[in-house]
Amino acid sequence: MTKDNASPKETVTLINNSTGKSTEFPLLSGSVGPKVADIRSLYASQDIFTYDPGYMSTGSCKSAITYIDGDAGVLLHRGYAISDLAEHGDYLEVAYAILKGELPNTAQKAKFVKDITNHSMVHEQINFFFRGFRRDSHPMAVLCGVVGAMAAFYHDSIDINDPHHRMIASYRLIAKMPTVVAWTYKYAMGQPFIYPRNNLGYAENFLHMMFATPCEEYKVSPVLARAMDRILVLHADHEQNASTSTVRLAGSSGANPFACIAAGIASLWGPAHGGANEAVLAMLHEIGSVDRIPEYIAKAKDKDDPFRLMGFGHRVYKNYDPRAKIMQKTCHDVLNELGVHDEPLLKLAMELERIALSDPYFVERKLFPNVDFYSGIIFRAMGIPTSMFTSLFALARTVGWIAQWNEMLTDPDQKIGRPRQLYVGAPPRDYVPLHKRA
Ligand code: SDX
Repeated sequence: MTKDNASPKETVTLINNSTGKSTEFPLLSGSVGPKVADIRSLYASQDIFTYDPGYMSTGSCKSAITYIDGDAGVLLHRGYAISDLAEHGDYLEVAYAILKGELPNTAQKAKFVKDITNHSMVHEQINFFFRGFRRDSHPMAVLCGVVGAMAAFYHDSIDINDPHHRMIASYRLIAKMPTVVAWTYKYAMGQPFIYPRNNLGYAENFLHMMFATPCEEYKVSPVLARAMDRILVLHADHEQNASTSTVRLAGSSGANPFACIAAGIASLWGPAHGGANEAVLAMLHEIGSVDRIPEYIAKAKDKDDPFRLMGFGHRVYKNYDPRAKIMQKTCHDVLNELGVHDEPLLKLAMELERIALSDPYFVERKLFPNVDFYSGIIFRAMGIPTSMFTSLFALARTVGWIAQWNEMLTDPDQKIGRPRQLYVGAPPRDYVPLHKRA
């Protein structure tokens, strides 16, 4: 293997039939998964660009963090199966693995938990940022603003070329996101902010900041804390999805980590991405009852109707999203813990899934439930308002974003991201003075 993973003899050749010129490109192999054609010399050798809107066939980077086999429905973080991590691990040890490459040993885990716990407070001045927003602002709008504003506070950790600065900023973001997300909820409710408590676990602390009030002791249910922790694990990272690619692109210009994560939050907000969990609940409420499911299945199949089955389909998974399976089980655990035995939305969702997965349109296009299909039902059962769902996704994904940001900055192949285009606009033409224009 050469230094950049190319096997000396493995190549692909492009023959440009319009010029007769052919170019050979190295074929790079990863540890598992598809090989990649290294076409970095294409423009110089053939004077042409590739064209790949949505990057359907384009690898933007090398990464060792997450591997997805969409056909097999496999998701690995640092080689560990998501089902094992969700079943046997917890969010902070998964975060450690995603950030540093290996699951922590006992001493490493204890230190990481302590470090994160002790960075969970935010600068008291940040408290005032919330007051600039209307109380009915969407929590993702507030989250974008407050996280971006954190760059104004933590000047001592934004030298992106200093590994120590990068790790401090990474720890701060992982540690402070639960506090900021919980405070967006408290601000919307008109309730006082609840400060993090160092004697609580990561997910438990978050739920405490969400639902406690100064008026009385609030005990978080261990079952709900475990369920929330598992949901955070399921959302921690996911290869080069839209928001992670946004963080990488923003970071490639040298932007500070807080600004890059704010950009990731903005991208995640879209209903085609992390905003889908909120959209699933709106869709289930709109469908309303099982007997109306066929009407909405028909709408989803109608090319003239913009309606899509939210929580279904995925760019990479052409099999059941492994996270959705675990989410469905967690949903049952939470509803049982809460004594909710006939949750109509869950019944509706499961019937919708059953009908869709027996419909040729969905089967032929390999459209299965994704991570967003069941999460909203769980969050709603926990008393979390629909408008907060995507903020919880952002909370969990922060470690993935920041790990990918660190990996991008330490990649010797790293350059500022600057795609080209197929120009279809006006060819060169002379300026027309105003008095001569039609
Ligand atoms: C996340 O990338 C990631 O990893 C993201 C994520 C992560 O952890 O970061 O996994 C999180 O974003 C999950 C996806 C959440 N989004 C939704 O649930 C929104 C609903 N789903 C879609 O809009 C759609 O499936 C996407 C955006 C997720 C994927 O779209 P693609 O890969 O661009 O697929 P496509 O639009 O080209 O669709 C292929 C075909 C089309 O039909 P034809 O033109 O071939 O006839 O499938 C159809 C689409 O119309 N289709 C759907 C559909 N999704 C695709 N039809 C009805 N309902 C749907 N949900």
